[in-house]
Amino acid sequence: MNTPLKAQVLSFYEQHPINEDEILIKLRQRGVDPEHMTQADMQDLDQDHYGGIAAVESLIEAGQLQAGDQVLDVCSGMGGPSRWIAHRLGCSVTGLDFTPSRVAGATRLTQRVGLEHKVRFVQGDATAMPFEAAQFDAAISQEAWCHIGAKDRVLAECARVLRPGGRLAFTDLVDRGTMSDEDHRLLEAGMKMPRLPLRTDYEALLARAGFQDIRCVDLSAHWTRILQDRLAMYRSLRETTVAKFGLARFEEYDAAYARFVALYSDGKAGGGRFTARRA
Ligand SMILES: C[S@@+](CC[C@H](N)C(=O)[O-])C[C@H]1O[C@@H](n2cnc3c(N)ncnc32)[C@H](O)[C@@H]1O
Repeated sequence: MNTPLKAQVLSFYEQHPINEDEILIKLRQRGVDPEHMTQADMQDLDQDHYGGIAAVESLIEAGQLQAGDQVLDVCSGMGGPSRWIAHRLGCSVTGLDFTPSRVAGATRLTQRVGLEHKVRFVQGDATAMPFEAAQFDAAISQEAWCHIGAKDRVLAECARVLRPGGRLAFTDLVDRGTMSDEDHRLLEAGMKMPRLPLRTDYEALLARAGFQDIRCVDLSAHWTRILQDRLAMYRSLRETTVAKFGLARFEEYDAAYARFVALYSDGKAGGGRFTARRA
């Protein structure tokens, strides 16, 4: 029997090259003592999306995040965006992720930089969030819903947990209209990303989930350059990735990532920054 996609995504992130150990190794290599580090020491190491802090800043602006907001970071990974938003604006941020090592690692990293009074991480599925209705003023997400087939469920959950008028700002991957069925199949097999939507599919799903003022900025060209650099970055982590997860996993990831980046270089896959307001 085939392993369900959710279990494959969990396993993918339990063995991801960007992880807590890797972040701490990089910090020590830079001469930073992890016992006495600040958010500023780590801010280019803990972001698992395209564009680093600048991309989080764009979401802060697009989502009009403010100091008094209760913010939800959906699929929060190692917690980089959550910490950055709390550090920058002083607001309270809840990160939700279903991969246990990422929730635990994000929590420990947050304690190390003294942000635990502002940022908490909760383990749970974005398609069935463990939160009360209308709990948040704003929700963000970056490069994560590509792993979730039921995007309608994620958007319905965002609509449920946002207060009326609450803002949603997220970035995600899209099919630019020329991906073949084989491209989609290989992307799901290698990167655990089920069929990418068109930008217009996302816009229609947002409207159906009860969002208004829907906007999308096309990030495809920007991401293509970033992804080419990211492939080189993952290859530079070969030694630590092999030591932690073995050579076979490194080679499997490398081949899948190279195919993934080719979809961008060939103009088939792209990305968008979507913003919307809950009715
Ligand atoms: C590429 S990482 C992005 C992390 C973070 N947003 C960032 O920008 O640093 C994708 C994350 O989505 C999480 N994820 C995927 N599917 C999920 C789901 N259904 N529910 C909760 N988390 C999920 C994974 O565990 C992973 O940590």
